[in-house]
Formats: sequence, structure tokens, C-alpha cells
Amino acid sequence: EQIKKGKYDHYMQKEIHEQPDSLTTTMRGRLIRGGESKMKSVVLGGLKDHLRTIRRSRRIVFIGCGTSYNAALAARPIVEELSGVPVTMELASDLVDRQGPIYREDTAVFVSQSGETADTLQALEYAKSHGALCVGITNTVGSAIARGTHCGVHINAGCEIGVASTKAYTSQIAVMTMLALALGDDSISSRIRREAIIDDFFDLPSKVREVLKLDIEMKELANLLMEEQSLLIFGRGYNYATALEGALKVKEVALMHSEGILAGEMKHGPLALVDETLPIIVVATCDATFSKQQSVIQQLKARKGRLIVMCTKGDAPSLCSSGACRFIEVPHVEDCLQPIINIVPLQLLAYHLTVLRGYNVDQPRNLAKSVTTQ
Ligand code: AGP
Repeated sequence: EQIKKGKYDHYMQKEIHEQPDSLTTTMRGRLIRGGESKMKSVVLGGLKDHLRTIRRSRRIVFIGCGTSYNAALAARPIVEELSGVPVTMELASDLVDRQGPIYREDTAVFVSQSGETADTLQALEYAKSHGALCVGITNTVGSAIARGTHCGVHINAGCEIGVASTKAYTSQIAVMTMLALALGDDSISSRIRREAIIDDFFDLPSKVREVLKLDIEMKELANLLMEEQSLLIFGRGYNYATALEGALKVKEVALMHSEGILAGEMKHGPLALVDETLPIIVVATCDATFSKQQSVIQQLKARKGRLIVMCTKGDAPSLCSSGACRFIEVPHVEDCLQPIINIVPLQLLAYHLTVLRGYNVDQPRNLAKSVTTQ
């Protein structure tokens, strides 16, 4: 059943719309709410004997390529916050090219949908040879990365066929957020925060269902943008990853140049690109960086930027009152889960852009689902 398209025209479309279910499967049996003690907690069977070691690591190093790297980037802040362990990010090929430092006291986390990506596998061999504890986060039971790591977690998103990764991305973020919760499990001071996240996890499938209703709106937006040469996406904090991943989807399938930009870097170069014609999506959903994004929007408006603002439902008037912007309004969840919601309209936009521009959705030119050569 999983490998049939059913009522959908393309696998990518099916996999985008499957996300309420794939997230439910990812969460199943792992989030505990209630019981005798009324405690809320997370159980990750594959890691239970290793959590102490990970907590005592000198650092956690997230390693992956493409979308899997972006998912790790989205989870980085909550892993740092709840574990107290510094997290560094490595693109697998770059770590190997540089022969970057990896220590015995490190935990190296390998994130890969297929579990077969050659660059990630090579980085795994490298980290193992340096004595790090190697953790795998994959979607493929029995894959080379699942077999080659010391321990790990399966994301259980179900088979993903479209070359553009969609449901695996959201499930990867969910699993790494659960990892953060499990690592912080022994801290009394973060208990309220952890419980709020667990509560929002339970609401996540219905919130994703809600955001999927933007499908028609995103098709209209795709109609408006289909002739463009380029699209910029600005994000920061938890949603820097959303900007990178949204741009990756647009360039990968719609074959349109797109760049994800850290909004904090805007004044250091990208601002020069802003004019009345270049479309810019600004992710400005409600979190600790909201007021900074408000000021980014003001600065872009002052330069007559062509803005599309992604914001929390109800926030539109406070962001842009003059009718100068278009809005994508999304439901609110805890900040660390918000990237799971925010990527969905951008996946839909990339999908509709591809169909309208007449390109192959499930087999973009020059790309393979799993990159098994270097
Ligand atoms: C995602 O849309 C891409 N097809 C690509 O970036 C992919 O995420 C990357 O090649 C890594 O693949 P993996 O997750 O199977 O290791």
C-alpha cells in the first residue's frame, strides 16, 4: 500500500499529505503521558543504555547531508538547551574533506533517511576510527548506517519514494527533539518546559493536518511565482533550518534558484539583492526571535521588498499593516516543534511550482534518491 500513489498524482504529493500519519508512527510508544506518577517522559529503546554516556560527552556532533543535515540543524537548539552539551554541525563530506577533529569523548549522531548515503557512511567510518560513540538516526531498518553505528533510533516514517525528502524530514526533527527530551530527563529545572513540549507533540498530527489545508493557497502562490528566476527565504533560530530546507526543496524539484538565508546575516550582504521584483519569504512565526524578525520585515519593506511573510495565525496585522505583504498563516506549537509545521507550506509550494513549471516531481533531473557514490 505504501508504494502506491493512491489518490495522489505524485509520490512527493502523497508523502507531504501523509505527514500527520508518519509523525504519529514516529511518536508511537515513545511519548509517555500520565500513569501513576502523572510524569510525562520519552522512551527511546535503542538509546536507553547510552543516555548517560551521551550526557557526559564533550560534545554532540550532528552529521548528515542535504535534508537530513537540515533536520539536525532544526533540532540543534533544543538538544543544546535540554542536554546542556554543546552541539556542532557537520556536513558529512566536509568533515571527511577536512579530516576535522573527532574525539573519543564525542557523541557523533549520523542522520540519514536511506542509511546508505556514501558521504555519511564515510564520515561514520572516520568517527568510529577516532573512538566516538556513534548514534544512527535512519528511516531504513538494516541499512548500512543502522548496522554500522553503536546504537540508534529508527524514525519509522514509512517508505519514502519521492527523491525530495518530505515526511522523513519532519520525522527526523521529531526524533531528535525526543532525543533532547530523553537527554534532559534527569533535570528538575527543565521539567515544565519538557512537559509543554510533550503536550504539543500529542497535538502535532492535528496541527499538521490543519497546515495542509493551505494547499490551495500555496498553489495560488506557486502560480504567482512560477515565472521567477529566484526566491529567497529568510529564517533564524529554530527556523534557519526551515529557510535552508524550503530553498533546497524549491531548487531540487522546481529547478528554480532559491537560497535559504540566516536573517541575522541579511545586513552582511544579502540586503543588496532586495528590490521590488525579487520574491522573499520571511519566516516570522512566534518565538524568542520574533521581534528581530519584525525588524527584518521593516527593513525589507523600507527597500520595497516583495514580501511573503510566514507568521503565526493572528499575528499578520502586527507584522505588516499596509497590505504590502502576502501572508502564510500557520498554527502555533512550542518553538522547537514549529519547524515541523513551518516546512509544510514550503513543501507544498515546491510541489506546485514543479507541476506548474512542467518538471518531473518524483525524479528531478540529475538526482538520485540515495547518493551511494562520492
Ligand atoms: C532531499 O530532498 C535530498 N534528496 C537530499 O538532500 C538527501 O536528503 C541527501 O542526499 C541525504 O540523504 P539521506 O538522508 O538518505 O542520507
